[in-house]
Amino acid sequence: MSPVDGPGISNPNLPVDRAVTEGRVPGRREEQVPELHEVDCPAELKERIEALMGRYPDRKSASIPALWAVQERYGWCTPEGIRQAAAVMRVTPAYLESVASFYDLLHTDPVGSHRIEVCTNISCWMRGGDELLDAFKAAAGGDDESFYVTGFECLGACDIAPMASIDQRYYGPLEAAEAATAIGQLREGAEVLPEKALEKRPLAGDS
Ligand code: FES
Repeated sequence: MSPVDGPGISNPNLPVDRAVTEGRVPGRREEQVPELHEVDCPAELKERIEALMGRYPDRKSASIPALWAVQERYGWCTPEGIRQAAAVMRVTPAYLESVASFYDLLHTDPVGSHRIEVCTNISCWMRGGDELLDAFKAAAGGDDESFYVTGFECLGACDIAPMASIDQRYYGPLEAAEAATAIGQLREGAEVLPEKALEKRPLAGDS
């Protein structure tokens, strides 16, 4: 008898593999693709996800940008937002949940409105990345839930080490003392460290 044919496994001395036995036993309800009318998906989000799906031959290829759209709308990948995206994409919420939980830049729990990722990988670490992370955490304060501060693996901007991504913009090279300045500017709604913004650095070939 197959382990999934009955209420338990055939040999009671074997450990139960829940990945095998749960959710696949005949008679148990598999997760369904939600219908659009069940999820009340905002029209703007629906249109955006549909446009994203249109870019790929396989609609599942739009999973990451669709989840990013959900995150931009709700601040994080909320269960309801994931259900809305799943209904538009005709996939199960569990499928999108598995994608969202795999990638560090997609959040399946609430995060603050300001997201700060400090690189602590080798180039940044050698130039004070750990101290920079500590400085950002201290400046943000443990009780202020509007800030989400975390260490991160290489963000691909090693030439401006030590660096951080602040609300999806890159800054560096940063001094630890500039963490408090950046947090203060975010609190005031002011421009953040304009002299350290990657987008304002001259490009190769600029005179
Ligand atoms: S090591 Fe920090 S951006 Fe690459």
